[in-house]
Amino acid sequence: MQPADLHWDPYDTVLDDDPHPTWKRMRDEAPVYRNDHFDFWALSRFADVEAASRDTATFSSSHGTVLELMGPHMVGSGQMIFMDPPEHTMYRQLVSRAFTPRRMAMLDDHVRDVSAELLDGLSGRATFDYVQDFAAQLPSRIISRLVGVPEDEREEQRINIDEMFHIDPERGMINDIAFLARVRVHEYLLDLVKRHQAAPSAFGDDMINVLIGSEITDDDGSTRRLTDEELVVFTLLLYVAGTETVMRLLGNAAVILAAHPDQRAELVADPSLIAGAVEELLRYEAPSPVQGRWVLRDTVVRGVSIPAGSRVLLLTGSAGRDEREYPDADRFDIRRDIRKHVTFGYGVHYCLGASLARTEGRIALEETLRRHPQWEVDPSRTVRQHTSTVRGWTEVGLSV
Ligand code: HEM
Repeated sequence: MQPADLHWDPYDTVLDDDPHPTWKRMRDEAPVYRNDHFDFWALSRFADVEAASRDTATFSSSHGTVLELMGPHMVGSGQMIFMDPPEHTMYRQLVSRAFTPRRMAMLDDHVRDVSAELLDGLSGRATFDYVQDFAAQLPSRIISRLVGVPEDEREEQRINIDEMFHIDPERGMINDIAFLARVRVHEYLLDLVKRHQAAPSAFGDDMINVLIGSEITDDDGSTRRLTDEELVVFTLLLYVAGTETVMRLLGNAAVILAAHPDQRAELVADPSLIAGAVEELLRYEAPSPVQGRWVLRDTVVRGVSIPAGSRVLLLTGSAGRDEREYPDADRFDIRRDIRKHVTFGYGVHYCLGASLARTEGRIALEETLRRHPQWEVDPSRTVRQHTSTVRGWTEVGLSV
């Protein structure tokens, strides 16, 4: 039996400001939590999140992974994040070929150049918004280059993509602003694919060109090229998955490091600690703390029956604070020895962009700390965006 006073609602903005005490109670008192009002279950312990992520035959992504978008009739939009094996495996293999560690390593210099350019543009200012002026710009510029968006078209698409995440207070992610922005981005990417096909050499060694040249094997064993629609859908997924999340990581970093000035000073003194600090930041405040799954067959978790057709939320953000996995889990410690975390998901959907996200996080913080060894966060200019999926700041006003 679940305690009557234990209540977790992913749309409750007050709870979202600090969900950790509630998630701790859920781990301890109701590890298989039931919310009747919104009709979902939630798994909050590290071990359960990990096991469910591995079991795609029971916990499926094919009905969506965002609570308000999930339902019996929801069918994937052709994005591999909403597919199960074996269909997912085929796309993932293809894309992994274009997403090699070598290609990611080639982006290192670009991440540093863009970070330096953005931060230098703010030099001389006593205050600025770390998220809007920096963290929101960096990942979108990097992905634009990776994908093959020409430089002078990047800013317009960044704004469109930002609008795709518009949250309506009543209807969440389902609203006209977000829908129309998605249509604009879709049209733009379709045109970009066609321009690549017409003149590949005008673009060079970018992701769209690599994918245009790749073949996939269909169920009947025949091979074919990706359709234009498949190319657009995949490119869009990269943007969606890779911009908001990195922006949240960096916003969290600005706030958490300001709250731990002694550890921030250690990073300034020894930048080789920054890579480890990024892992700890990811564990401590997950930018994407909730992954939805659809239950395909009746199952039992910790003695609780969950019927087929249920929605289950895997709380990767809670798993990062599970004392069963991490001693003194609520303590932020850049020197913590983290063997694994599930902030990038786990199993077949493990984040494709994890190495790029780590690189962006590390280099962005190196460049920030080099210019600004100290800062204060201005609470009156700090704004959180509330969604049922990603979690973090849209504005973090700093005085440096
Ligand atoms: C701090 C930054 C990031 C975080 C916290 C993050 C988190 C995640 C999580 C939790 C998943 C698994 C979703 C699920 O199981 O349903 C995922 C998948 C994915 N991520 Fe990331 N991500 C980040 C950055 C990126 C970047 C930079 C890119 C691309 C450049 C990216 C591309 C993807 C893709 C394509 C998938 C789907 C993989 C699949 O379905 O096989 N992510 N990410």
